[in-house]
Amino acid sequence: MNLKSKEAPESKARSQKPEDGGGCVQLVYISRAVGREPEVELPQILRLARGHNSEQGITGLLCFAYGRYMQVLEGGAKEVNALYLRIGADKRHEAVRLLKFSQSPSRMFALWSMRVICLDENSAAEARALVRFNNFGAFEPENWTGDECLGFLRTLARVTPDAE
Ligand SMILES: Cc1cc2nc3c(=O)[nH]c(=O)nc-3n(C[C@H](O)[C@H](O)[C@H](O)COP(=O)(O)O)c2cc1C
Repeated sequence: MNLKSKEAPESKARSQKPEDGGGCVQLVYISRAVGREPEVELPQILRLARGHNSEQGITGLLCFAYGRYMQVLEGGAKEVNALYLRIGADKRHEAVRLLKFSQSPSRMFALWSMRVICLDENSAAEARALVRFNNFGAFEPENWTGDECLGFLRTLARVTPDAE
């Protein structure tokens, strides 16, 4: 497997905050990267995300693939909303499109204050296999529902070796 997983030990921070009613909200969006290479942007984003998200009890996964970001944020509704507004105003990406915002009985990415997985040219074969596995014709998240994106991210997390 050649998928690059950019998480660091500190990113493995389970939320310390109690959930409201035992559940959380899940928010999924997609966007297009602008500006510098993701190799430069991603470590900076991850540094910010780790500190902030663990303080706010937010967990999730950020995937970069073919010039697009796809991210799931999990946590309290207020915290997730506030973060999404900040992320939406970030000039490092554009065409930010909300695909899912709904209550969930549990977290899918509870171990990660923010896991980052980057699919690049070297991992194109694996990405294609994954897309086929999910019965998608190609990596075209613009045409996927929020639940399909979530399914893709969950599968990606499962098949990508943990860097630890
Ligand atoms: C694709 C993408 C994903 C991001 N994910 C997060 C995140 O999960 N948590 C976070 O705190 N910041 C994240 N950021 C960074 C925020 O947009 C913002 O720069 C950061 O929270 C600092 O906000 P502030 O300058 O208002 O303090 C992300 C940025 C981008 C472009």
